[in-house]
Amino acid sequence: MRKPIVAGNWKMNKTVADALALVNGMKAELSAIEGVDVVLCPPFTALAAVGQAIAGTRVDLGAQNMHAEKSGAYTGEVAADMIRELGCHYVILGHSERRQYFKETDELVNKKARAALAAGLRPIVCVGELLAQREAGQTEKVVETQVRGSLAGLGPKDLLATVLAYEPVWAIGTGKTATPAQAQEVHAFIRKVLQSLADESVAQSVRIQYGGSVKASNAKELFHQPDIDGGLIGGASLEARSFIDIVKGAL
Ligand code: 13P
Repeated sequence: MRKPIVAGNWKMNKTVADALALVNGMKAELSAIEGVDVVLCPPFTALAAVGQAIAGTRVDLGAQNMHAEKSGAYTGEVAADMIRELGCHYVILGHSERRQYFKETDELVNKKARAALAAGLRPIVCVGELLAQREAGQTEKVVETQVRGSLAGLGPKDLLATVLAYEPVWAIGTGKTATPAQAQEVHAFIRKVLQSLADESVAQSVRIQYGGSVKASNAKELFHQPDIDGGLIGGASLEARSFIDIVKGAL
């Protein structure tokens, strides 16, 4: 049985003061939810404060990005050990916004995933097609290329520590959610790709989140599809009530 995992990707939102107000308004209720792994991914600047606020609760901490190198002359960048030190156990990698605005490739995402795993972090590796690619019937080809490229060379142990997030780009921040059937179809396909990368047992154990306009009103139906193991939540994770209700949708 895969344990569902719901993560809030706050993106470039919340000062430290705003982050603390949000986390203090939801940590008790989130921590009382058993049976779902919950991860908060604030911006770098709020990681330390949020990490301290959730210390001792069941809620976990993740970063939204990291650099692939351990240290060095990379002005403005942050390394795996640095986020690990702040209490992160997860790191989102290859989000479509990073692929689009910061030109991240599968090769780079793969380097980052290896560095994250070597530092004891669990990567949340994002994949997903553009609207034009879906309309051209290329969804499976695009997603397969991203999964294979981003996870290249990872052995079973590393694959088991990795979470995948299927986020169709046309569903991110648009209010246009993939239907449960559309999402399920791609999740089942990703599991087939995982099987060819490793074996049936690994493919059945890796958790695959859905992301893209998840709200309290559609979370439950999405999360109860057979191959969907929770979600990666953007806009709706910025407000306590809606995020708590979404997490409960995974029960
Ligand atoms: P929204 O939930 O705002 O559509 O964002 C999804 C996302 O990109 C999470 O990583």
